[in-house]
Amino acid sequence: MKPVYEDDFVSLYHGDLFDVLPTLQPGSIHSLITDPPYCSGAPGAGVKADPVKKYCQGGNALGRPTFGGDSKNERGFSFWCLQWLRICRQLVKEGGYGLVFIDWRNLPSMCDALQAADWIHRGVAAWDKGLTSRSPHRGYFRHQCEYIVWGTNGPCHKRDDAGPFKGCHHVPHDLKDKHHITGKPVRLMSELVQVAPIGETILDPFAGSGTTLLAAKREGRRAIGIEREKSYCDITINRLRSLDLQ
Ligand SMILES: C[S@@+](CC[C@H](N)C(=O)[O-])C[C@H]1O[C@@H](n2cnc3c(N)ncnc32)[C@H](O)[C@@H]1O
Repeated sequence: MKPVYEDDFVSLYHGDLFDVLPTLQPGSIHSLITDPPYCSGAPGAGVKADPVKKYCQGGNALGRPTFGGDSKNERGFSFWCLQWLRICRQLVKEGGYGLVFIDWRNLPSMCDALQAADWIHRGVAAWDKGLTSRSPHRGYFRHQCEYIVWGTNGPCHKRDDAGPFKGCHHVPHDLKDKHHITGKPVRLMSELVQVAPIGETILDPFAGSGTTLLAAKREGRRAIGIEREKSYCDITINRLRSLDLQ
């Protein structure tokens, strides 16, 4: 399969990860860093749950396209995560990292799936959005954090070159830096890509608007991205090209 975009640092594939991942070389990836659809509060298989209605306050996506694959119930979600986490682990070098975003609802399912896929589960880091998280009604705790479930493919080697890495990342949302309905800030992803040494390759099979790829390139890491929605591939390509112009 041919990438839709390629430069010295980044390759982006337009397609389903289950078609693309088997074409990649086992052991060629240093770290999996990814942000799958959370299927948060999904009503069940076959029921349409538009992420715009779920994740955009007031249903206003500010022109950002919607995406599919966000309506699995908890059991379906765990089973699905196990499948792609297993294939990704086979691509990651021994001692490489797996970092996967999730919210509070599906945190237990993601921890289970990571272990079922034979990653060694090492912990959970937090992304603290501060008061830029969606505001709930009075009397309710804010869902202020999203989580990064992390593990390694086998032993976690002691490092002289990096870490210990932050267990809590305080990075507010900035709408100017949000190119996907559930997009992550570049600063947050720039902190996370530090787990891979300079020049190593990071895999993001749920690339969305390409934030992981952009951060990797900015920080001197290589990256491979996969995204199923053509509109988001186009957004990613534009962002990577603008980075070249900076
Ligand atoms: C939560 S978003 C990632 C957002 C990204 N972190 C960003 O900052 O833009 C997840 C993405 O995974 C894509 N996706 C869902 N299922 C997929 C699949 N089977 N293969 C490839 N991409 C998929 C969706 O289209 C969506 O854009």
